[in-house]
Amino acid sequence: MDSNTLIAIDGYASTGKSTLAKMLSRHYKLTFIDSGSLYRGVTFYALEKGLFENDQLDKEALKEELDFLKLRFKHDNGDLFLNSENVSKKIRLPDVSDHVSTVAALTMVREFILKQIRQMQNKNGMVVDGRDIGTVVFPDADCKFFFMARPEVRARRRFEELKAQGQQTTFEEVLENLVHRDKIDTSREISPLRKAVDAIEIDTSEMNADKVFALLVEKIDSKLNL
Ligand code: CDP
Repeated sequence: MDSNTLIAIDGYASTGKSTLAKMLSRHYKLTFIDSGSLYRGVTFYALEKGLFENDQLDKEALKEELDFLKLRFKHDNGDLFLNSENVSKKIRLPDVSDHVSTVAALTMVREFILKQIRQMQNKNGMVVDGRDIGTVVFPDADCKFFFMARPEVRARRRFEELKAQGQQTTFEEVLENLVHRDKIDTSREISPLRKAVDAIEIDTSEMNADKVFALLVEKIDSKLNL
């Protein structure tokens, strides 16, 4: 594989994008970037700074704060650092999940994150997952996938994941959040979630991670003549 290969995985919330992107990055020795965690990082920052009042975001204040916000991944384990704080766990809290799609719909935030991701691009090649990677961030990616799955299956998986982390939530709350985010993500004006014309659609409803992995490797190897 060329060292600068780019693989893009987009799709609906909790369809297994990050899990698979991580597995592929290890297999092909590429850098893994979970772009959603960057949007979560900005959202966590906005919440921590008290920029939401009754769910209304103070956009002007956030705009000023963006100048002071640095997000970076630690290379060895992929932990996300916001300025000097490790926020890897905190960005998964329900409060962040409830507000992230509102924050991600803002042009200034998308421009900010786009710049961050482009800066992370290196000679190594990357596997990047998100909502607009194959359409906007890396439209020339070598391989593009678009993940979907039935909402109940997605909610069940995410609920089990959160429960295992000791988070207090219910299946219904998780389902509601996923459906809510999908709605905002697909209908926003800037970089809405949609399948790139040249992306391969993958329905993960009936497949575990190993099965999806085998399928993706087959598609990638054949596309790149490996
Ligand atoms: O892992 P999960 O499917 O829950 O979502 P995520 O990848 O952590 O992304 C969280 C949110 O960030 C999404 O619901 C989108 O609102 C936003 N996002 C985006 O707008 N563009 C991206 N490239 C990645 C995430």
